[in-house]
Amino acid sequence: MKKIHYFSLFAALLLFSCGETTKQEVTVVTQDPIASQVGGLLDDDQGLAGMPVYSDAAPGTSEKFDRSFENAPPLIPHNTEGLVPIKKDNNMCLTCHMPAVAVAMKSTALPASHFTDYRPKVIEKGGKYQVDAKEGEVYEKSLGDELSSTRYNCTQCHVSQAKIDPWVQNNFEQVFRDNNLKTSSNLEKNIQDGVK
Ligand code: HEC
Ligand code: HEC
Repeated sequence: MKKIHYFSLFAALLLFSCGETTKQEVTVVTQDPIASQVGGLLDDDQGLAGMPVYSDAAPGTSEKFDRSFENAPPLIPHNTEGLVPIKKDNNMCLTCHMPAVAVAMKSTALPASHFTDYRPKVIEKGGKYQVDAKEGEVYEKSLGDELSSTRYNCTQCHVSQAKIDPWVQNNFEQVFRDNNLKTSSNLEKNIQDGVK
């Protein structure tokens, strides 16, 4: 019984002493300004130690990062102010990253994988449902110029970067089969690797 009392006292002290700094120590990764207004943290408060989570550099002035690993979604090197949240009828990312405009905008064009459907249809055969794909291969169907709807929400996979001094260093070492893959991707070419 006594032990429990000591424990609650300790917990209360701990809570009390952290009260002032808790706000800055919480890392919430939300890019939704509406969420911020309804009681979440402001964008500038989200990083560790209250640093902004966004890069300061505007699109066109930032420096790209090496890929985190082969065919990892590249990190967003520029700020995303005014570009997020992505809405059903408004996706600013496309205005600079669609292949037709990428050269003029000096941005990286969306890769072929984003214009490919990797989801086989579900079909009915003799009263049973099955996936319309062969065993031992990745289903892929080109969508031509049409962006796959699964790639519409860019920030689901591509993330902004914070300039922070991490408390715990990341010791992961990337290995690239080809040096070009540090700065580009070729997923649509080797997506069958290890499957076929
Ligand atoms: C005004 C044009 C513009 C808009 C809008 C824009 N970008 Fe960019 N983006 C660029 C340019 C230009 C670069 C190349 C780096 C630079 O010059 O800043 C780039 C680089 C990138 C990269 C790195 C690519 C690589 O090869 O490493 C990613 C990822 C990216 N942008 C994602 C996004 C996402 C997601 C959005 C929407 C939230 C977006 N961009 C909106 C122009 C834009
Ligand atoms: C489901 C996750 C996902 C979504 C959503 C997504 N991407 Fe990607 N993206 C990736 C991955 C993984 C790669 C690297 C492998 C590849 O090329 O497919 C990539 C690669 C890229 C590249 C680099 C192309 C190159 O040639 O190196 C750009 C630029 C890019 N994406 C922009 C975007 C933009 C802009 C959107 C929104 C319209 C978007 N992506 C949506 C996962 C995603």
